[in-house]
Amino acid sequence: MMPLPLKRFLTVAVATTLCGAVQAATVLKISHNQSTDVPVHKAMKVFADKVQEYTDGEVKVRIYPNAQLGTQRESLELVQSGMLSMAKSNAAELEAFEPLYGVYNLPYLFTGSDHFYKIIGGPIGEEILLASKDKGFIGITYYDAGSRSFYAKKPIKTPADLKGMKIRTQPSPSAVKMIELLGANPSPIAFGELYTALQQGVVDGAENNESALTDNRHGEVAKFYSRDEHTMIPDVLVISTQIWEELTPEQQAAIKKAASESMMAQKELWAENTKKAIDIATNELGVTFVEDVDKPAFAEIVLPMHDDAAKSNPQIADLITRIKAEAE
Ligand code: GCU
Repeated sequence: MMPLPLKRFLTVAVATTLCGAVQAATVLKISHNQSTDVPVHKAMKVFADKVQEYTDGEVKVRIYPNAQLGTQRESLELVQSGMLSMAKSNAAELEAFEPLYGVYNLPYLFTGSDHFYKIIGGPIGEEILLASKDKGFIGITYYDAGSRSFYAKKPIKTPADLKGMKIRTQPSPSAVKMIELLGANPSPIAFGELYTALQQGVVDGAENNESALTDNRHGEVAKFYSRDEHTMIPDVLVISTQIWEELTPEQQAAIKKAASESMMAQKELWAENTKKAIDIATNELGVTFVEDVDKPAFAEIVLPMHDDAAKSNPQIADLITRIKAEAE
């Protein structure tokens, strides 16, 4: 058990006076590792406003950006223990906490954005969000994090170009495996340390969506973004199971409604931000977007990961089959 004062600091309870009566408002703190300029932060602000509105102020949300409460992993551990109420993490990192999230880490699983949204906005996505209940957290909603491609100081058009390169990956078993299969050396490091790692040559490249070039300034140090689009891994807003169970059913419903509305708000913000990122990366940072990438060659090497994942876990096997059946 954690000391109560510490728990209080990170989770709940401020006293407000309403008509002379003292009412405890629940405060949910969200930790995340991005700046306040990115779509996911703006969407969580929408979430915060709507939670306040739909619960008539009974529940308030405060967002702590820039990993000030810890890295994604540290925040998830705090959420699991109930010391922190909420966190936004990429699904890649969640795989270490709940294996079903590993399905999102499988390369070339989605055929495009429509397929992706059909899954994250539908029953399969919901099933995965609820799967971690006994592991100390529950997913509330997903946010778009685009598709991930390699970026480095040189173009990467074929898997052969990756040979021997040190590539930063998210700390996720599948991400590490994918890089190994492609012939590069995976280096799982926290996102906040990546700019310096690229700058100092600790890694030769990384992989992410286009906005990492601008929002996280990686385009200052990596001038070629090679669009192999190997994965589409959503961000996920999670809440501590312990905190969730202390909320009333009405508050839980209000939070779910606010969360799914914020997901739709983020979808639009994401599209605009990606366009802007490509423009700024090209015209201000001098990044070249390499489009003539041999995607089938990448896919051929990493597609066996689907069968391996299916063999490792019958629930994952079932998810893969159902996700593929929903393809456009
Ligand atoms: C995306 C994602 C972050 C994650 C990052 C990473 O940008 O939105 O949550 O930390 O990828 O590569 O680590």
